[in-house]
Amino acid sequence: DWTMAAYKESMIAKIRAQVGSGKVICGLSGGVDSSVAAVLIHEAIGDQLTCIFVDHGLLRGGEAEQVVTLFRDNYNIPLVHRDASDLFLGELKSVTDPETKRKIIGRLFIDVFDEEAHKIGGAQFLAQGTLYPDVIESVSFTGGPSVTIKSHHNVGGLPERMNLKLVEPLRELFKDEVRALGRELGLPEKMIRRHPFPGPGLAIRIPGDITPEKLDILRKADAIYLEEIDKAGLYDQIWQAFAVLLPVKTVGVMGDGRTYDHVCALRAVTSTDGMTADFYPFEPALLGRMATRIVNEVKGINRVVYDYTSKPPGTIEWE
Ligand code: XMP
Repeated sequence: DWTMAAYKESMIAKIRAQVGSGKVICGLSGGVDSSVAAVLIHEAIGDQLTCIFVDHGLLRGGEAEQVVTLFRDNYNIPLVHRDASDLFLGELKSVTDPETKRKIIGRLFIDVFDEEAHKIGGAQFLAQGTLYPDVIESVSFTGGPSVTIKSHHNVGGLPERMNLKLVEPLRELFKDEVRALGRELGLPEKMIRRHPFPGPGLAIRIPGDITPEKLDILRKADAIYLEEIDKAGLYDQIWQAFAVLLPVKTVGVMGDGRTYDHVCALRAVTSTDGMTADFYPFEPALLGRMATRIVNEVKGINRVVYDYTSKPPGTIEWE
């Protein structure tokens, strides 16, 4: 009989057999995949594992602290936390092209990760939370399928450059199976339920150039949107929900004054693997409450629109 408990044990045995007494480094993103991979590997080989968390300054509010608390304090997993926000935001200044943003973030991520890995020294293995859908949709920096939809920076590049062997325990799994494995490993429910979040983070949810001010506005709108979804009890029915800050300003009225502020687009989709997706059909009254709160509470946004596009033809992210 196949059970997740048995699968976990077989994965642990496999990891031990592959790694032996070697040292493993693992990049944490704050998401479910890398977290489950790290905890699984830690259960297999203990402190032969060191995690590296490169904070690119493009996470949602409070996320960096959550990662550090969970891994360092709850799990006692050796963790390097590198705050590289200034570096990333500096290099992204005035960049507007979506693929250029991804390439810059991917390159810097590898540079910083590599630097931290060298400081640790002596690792032979690199662990990644690569899932089955990543394996088939993604394109590596060294080549891959001839049609690039979007380059994902969590696959490819690093191992060749660092001369490390890959440990990818989640390679055969879909997202719902990773969540089941996470539960089996005792990860907090809040972390397991978390919607997927793209490697390039909020950079691809701000079409046009990225500034600290825009990031701040987007974080506030996104937090309100997710709070309302949670209050309505809909979070777990949705694959991903997020706000997008558009580089378009429109006119509005507030009190007895005219405003000229950004448009915020709200996105929510259902999906099983991110490869296809349907827009989520919110009740109009709920959308209305979300829009009202965002415009009233977030300075810099005076109009909210909802994205009714499914994938295909749309992608989930706007860039
Ligand atoms: P799209 O927008 O291509 O997204 O429909 C499909 C899934 O992939 C996530 N995504 C990314 N993940 N690096 C990542 O690690 C990326 O560059 C990237 N782009 C999109 C997206 O959030 C969705 O879950």
